Amino acid sequence: AVVRAQEAIARHARLVDDFPSPGIAFKDLTPVLADAEGLSAIVTALTHGCTDIDLVAGIDARGFLLGGAVARELGVGVLAVRKGGKLPPPVHSITYDLEYGTATLEIPADDGLGLSGMRVLLVDDVLATGGTAVAAADLLNRTGASVVGVAVIMELSGLRGRETIARGLGAGVPVHS
Ligand code: PRP
Ligand code: MG
Repeated sequence: AVVRAQEAIARHARLVDDFPSPGIAFKDLTPVLADAEGLSAIVTALTHGCTDIDLVAGIDARGFLLGGAVARELGVGVLAVRKGGKLPPPVHSITYDLEYGTATLEIPADDGLGLSGMRVLLVDDVLATGGTAVAAADLLNRTGASVVGVAVIMELSGLRGRETIARGLGAGVPVHS
């Protein structure tokens, strides 16, 4: 599945120059996910090496496209990690630094969800600086759950997100891209 996913990305991903800012080449995965083979290969590849997962957490917004499908593949449920202001109270909330400004992520603070003790796989489309993944994991850890893996389609390795995750979550948490 990993090779099929790589082939689908090579065939369908679209490179856009100077987006979101001048000098940046943006790799748009939209056509890969719109392709039946591409989506199937990517969802299966994202589960690679995942054992003992109780819950998948998909990160707003592009992680939602993958989180539900990966959860279905693993036979577990899915939780949406939302951007700030989308969820009714009470919430767990974290604000973290971006290159310019800050961003906020939230999850419900609801004991009825039974998150305590769950082993969670974090799913997103792209790992860049790792700030988003570490913030999402911090939120989940507050509920008594533990993030035991991070799975993304693509990693911008020059931004060292993998190292940021190792610092934030511990070197034992596997990052699969
Ligand atoms: C992008 C991407 C990841 C995040 C990675 O999301 O989908 O979630 O940035 O960046 P980081 O590793 O540097 O934190 P973005 O917030 O741009 O928007 P979207 O998913 O809502 O489109
Ligand atoms: Mg995102």
